[in-house]
Amino acid sequence: MQRALSPDRTAAQIRRICPNIPSLAVILGSGFAGIAGAVEIDAEIPCSGLPGFPEPGTAGHSGRLICGKLNDVPIICLCGRSHFYEGYTAAEITFPIRVLAALGVKDILLTNAVGGIRRGLRPSDFMLVTDHINLLPENPLRGMVGTDKFLDMTIAYDPGLRDLLVRAARAAKIRLRRGVYLAVAGPSYETPAEIRAFARLGADAVGMSTVPEVIVARHCGLRVAAISCITNFAAGRSKDLLSHADVLITGEMAQKAAEKLLKTFVRLYAKG
Ligand code: HPA
Repeated sequence: MQRALSPDRTAAQIRRICPNIPSLAVILGSGFAGIAGAVEIDAEIPCSGLPGFPEPGTAGHSGRLICGKLNDVPIICLCGRSHFYEGYTAAEITFPIRVLAALGVKDILLTNAVGGIRRGLRPSDFMLVTDHINLLPENPLRGMVGTDKFLDMTIAYDPGLRDLLVRAARAAKIRLRRGVYLAVAGPSYETPAEIRAFARLGADAVGMSTVPEVIVARHCGLRVAAISCITNFAAGRSKDLLSHADVLITGEMAQKAAEKLLKTFVRLYAKG
């Protein structure tokens, strides 16, 4: 099975509006959406106008592509993402990543919201993703022809970009935890028994995104980094019940720190 739409065609359309493509792409997930407001925008395209881009359908995901500068550093920014739980296939939700690669982007920073599993990971904390566990039922490379689908994932998260994020957090005086991200399909949250099982598997946090994008970005040869905002204690890790509204509220509360972290990161990135 091949994807029906060509990433090159969509990339050509973007290039007409935004001719100078930066080397760094940032995907703003829940908890990081507000950073779009700090970008000095050169060009902006709604995802609905881009062939092959699924439209994000979740509150907190606005669905637009921005070319501009964050802290004077050129970035291309995807505000919002689509999720497997919306009914899209893994290949569909990762089409924008293929388009970014076709545009000539070299590095990608993915951001997301997660529930904290490991004791000590608290709402509003940030976690540098060091590795992941994929429990989604579909791999975005499934059905591809050729042998490059047998993708090595030993070092999925680039050590150089990770180091930059650690240095950025230190410079911005933001506590950055490290941990393993476990991806579930959602959209229902987990049961406490599932969370206990995930902890035993080695997961530090749980979320419903990012992993398919990481796989495709690596398949395209991009360097990848990912940062999570802990928006809640995972199910059973506190007395509270889980709600998407609470996830969004905590994400908003962490916005200022998220912005500071990313601004410092892009500065260090630009220095090389
Ligand atoms: N579980 C899964 N996805 C999430 C969570 C969670 O607790 N919080 C934010 N995204």
